[in-house]
Amino acid sequence: MSKTVFENSISLDGYVAGPNDNPENGMGDGGMRLFEWYQAGDVDMPLPGTDMAFKVSQASADFMQAEWANLGVMVVGRRTFDIAHGWGGYPPGGGRCFVVTHTVPPEWVNDDSPFTFVTDGIESAVRQAKQVADGKAVSITSANIAQQCLSAGLLDELILNVSPTLLGAGVRLFDHLGSAPFELEQLAVVEGIGVTHLKYRVIY
Ligand SMILES: NC(=O)c1ccc[n+]([C@@H]2O[C@H](COP(=O)([O-])OP(=O)(O)OC[C@H]3O[C@@H](n4cnc5c(N)ncnc54)[C@H](OP(=O)(O)O)[C@@H]3O)[C@@H](O)[C@H]2O)c1
Repeated sequence: MSKTVFENSISLDGYVAGPNDNPENGMGDGGMRLFEWYQAGDVDMPLPGTDMAFKVSQASADFMQAEWANLGVMVVGRRTFDIAHGWGGYPPGGGRCFVVTHTVPPEWVNDDSPFTFVTDGIESAVRQAKQVADGKAVSITSANIAQQCLSAGLLDELILNVSPTLLGAGVRLFDHLGSAPFELEQLAVVEGIGVTHLKYRVIY
């Protein structure tokens, strides 16, 4: 059975985006600092499913490429989908993308769309994603969805790309943790340039 993995870049004080994040201000005020490590090295790191490539340290490339290679489909919240403008129809990872939402945007519903809009909650989204993941991991890509998965016992692993930045405000990753505390087993610590990669398994 596929596992679920949350992976995001995060500030040292726990934010995945700055304040005032919206479709015109993608990562919020100051939030793009979280992605500076994407251009901090000299090793090519292609983002699967897109024509984007980052320039990172060898350590980051080795770690992230191994992780990304194991990610299949994605589950994400509607805010991230809207802020990313649906990635122009090409979600990162190149697989199917399940968007958890209260309302379905009709303009994105057609036979060629990579998106499935799930209106009956995260358990349903994760179940549907696992059904088409073909044994690969399901990528949980937004904070709000990760929080709900954690509380529901549906999140297996966390990968945090920690930026040496204090945003001070914005979208907090570790918020609304209904059934906290959670025990985590540390699986990896990788020092890159401008980033420290941390990987944990959630122990339920
Ligand atoms: N740092 C990084 O690596 C990284 C990566 C990805 C994204 N981001 C950023 O991180 C931020 C994530 O925002 P977020 O965590 O607040 O929001 P989110 O998870 O992207 O979306 C939350 C929204 O999803 C819908 N939703 C969530 N749970 C639902 C449920 N159970 N049933 C129905 N609908 C549900 C609701 O929207 P509706 O009510 O409108 O349907 C809700 O407002 C964004 O700024 C994004 O750009 C950062």
